Amino acid sequence: MSKVTVVGAGNVGATVANVLAHEDIVKEVVMIDIKGDIARGKALDSWQQAPIDYYSTYLSGSEDYSATEGSDIVVITAGLPRKPGMSRDDLIATNAQIVNGVTASILKYSDNPIIIVVSNPLDVMTYVAYKASGLDSSRVMGMAGILDTARYRAFLAEALKVSPKDIQAVLMGGHGDTMVPLPRYTTVAGIPVTELIDAESLDKIVERTKFGGGELVQLMGTSAWYAPGAAAAQMVSSIVKDERRIFPCCVKLQGEYGISDIFVGAPVILGKNGIEKIIELQLNADEMQLLNDSAEHVKQVMEVYDRMAL
Ligand code: LAC
Repeated sequence: MSKVTVVGAGNVGATVANVLAHEDIVKEVVMIDIKGDIARGKALDSWQQAPIDYYSTYLSGSEDYSATEGSDIVVITAGLPRKPGMSRDDLIATNAQIVNGVTASILKYSDNPIIIVVSNPLDVMTYVAYKASGLDSSRVMGMAGILDTARYRAFLAEALKVSPKDIQAVLMGGHGDTMVPLPRYTTVAGIPVTELIDAESLDKIVERTKFGGGELVQLMGTSAWYAPGAAAAQMVSSIVKDERRIFPCCVKLQGEYGISDIFVGAPVILGKNGIEKIIELQLNADEMQLLNDSAEHVKQVMEVYDRMAL
């Protein structure tokens, strides 16, 4: 039975913890926040939901990292969210410092956890956690692709008037405006999506997906949490259950797709050891170009972090 720590008891962190508890697959979820009472409060509220929604996962909250001792999986959501008009990259200075400190504190109490990063700018924060942790790159990953494909699938379901359950998709690249949706790899109950929708409508959906996070920031004045939280919980679930599900996740590429030492979204198999395998799609020249552009953008922000020399 596993122990999961969620760092950051804001909207995203609380959703991860709550969704995970509902799955009833881990023994315990610890929520950590500098505002310890918020973490304690949200954990207590979720625990009081257990008799109603019927789960046994115990939730607790603290500001003290000793409570995280022996965690198998740690989800890092700490950091500032975007405000309207900001790009995810604008958050680097503040959030790099936070993610760096959080990772060091986690490693004091857990030897070899699997870390899932949700903080933005996502790809670079995953790199920060990787560097600060010293863990193998198969154990440090970022949540972005599940969320971005979920948005794409939801928009497609709406346009096609079909259930989102039947839409399968994969997406690559960084979690930002350069992300690379892949219509060629999108199916609706096994049917290539291009047989069901015209090119112009599909293009519009692809564009809306790229700015899907920003659309929500505009609406709410802060970034989204239900889908991001559920997406991170889904990654935890595949690892805890050793389900070996295939999801697009932010990972360190080491020669796959001809890209090395850059953290970027690619389809992977998620199991008990974290990233069990990075899947290499046979991208065509246009898709490869988009992926390279996206990786180059992430690399530049990684270099901004390297120059910060935390
Ligand atoms: C979003 C944030 C979580 O895309 O990056 O909504």
